[in-house]
Amino acid sequence: MTFDRSIKIAPSILSADFADFGREIQAVEAQGADWVHVDVMDGHFVPNITFGPPAVAAFRKHVKTVMDVHVMIAPVDPFIDAFAKAGADILTAHVEAGPHIHRTLQAIRGAGMKAGVALNPGTPAEAVAHVLDSCDLVCVMTVNPGFGGQKFIDMTAKVRRLRALIGDRPVHVEIDGGVDPTTAPLVAAAGADVLVAGSAVFRGGSVADPAPYGANIRAIRAAAEAALR
Ligand code: DX5
Ligand code: ZN
Repeated sequence: MTFDRSIKIAPSILSADFADFGREIQAVEAQGADWVHVDVMDGHFVPNITFGPPAVAAFRKHVKTVMDVHVMIAPVDPFIDAFAKAGADILTAHVEAGPHIHRTLQAIRGAGMKAGVALNPGTPAEAVAHVLDSCDLVCVMTVNPGFGGQKFIDMTAKVRRLRALIGDRPVHVEIDGGVDPTTAPLVAAAGADVLVAGSAVFRGGSVADPAPYGANIRAIRAAAEAALR
């Protein structure tokens, strides 16, 4: 993975057909996804449960791009090695998930993955100010984590503040929640480069009819890129 700040679209397979993850991943990649976003939920840090490391390892066989694993779990540290073995390229943990985010980020890098840190809507940009040299990505949640299909919460001021704090470090700013062609330009203009989208990518399509996935991805990308011109 080389660093660049071009717009990257990362479909969240939380909105895919749970009985057909392999073909769903192949379909969104064939339709232009840059990364594949995998949402791990534990029913404790967030009020929903999805899947754990064995499922993530099964997804890995189908991901040809970048597997971006977002863990909404607490604690994180006991599971870092399992997600490394499962083949995560990026592992993103929440700053709210425990008292030792610096240790967590170091352990993620130590296990050979890129390290991401996520911020809930109520958490200020400053919460990660002192770990920016220890991470490769900051994920700004634009919904309260736990479910797909929620309404976008405007965090553009936080994204701008983060970009100022990051300066010239090679750190991605990812947006997660409620991203669609209407909201993507707001966060792209503020400095985000990775746009996670679940419902706005998967709506209208299926593995049998994947063309809508491509149209949806292109619409989000075009709207975001237009905001940079
Ligand atoms: C929310 C997840 C998101 C979610 C996004 O907890 O982290 O990745 O799937 O879904 P949409 O794009 O539908 O808001
Ligand atoms: Zn996510």
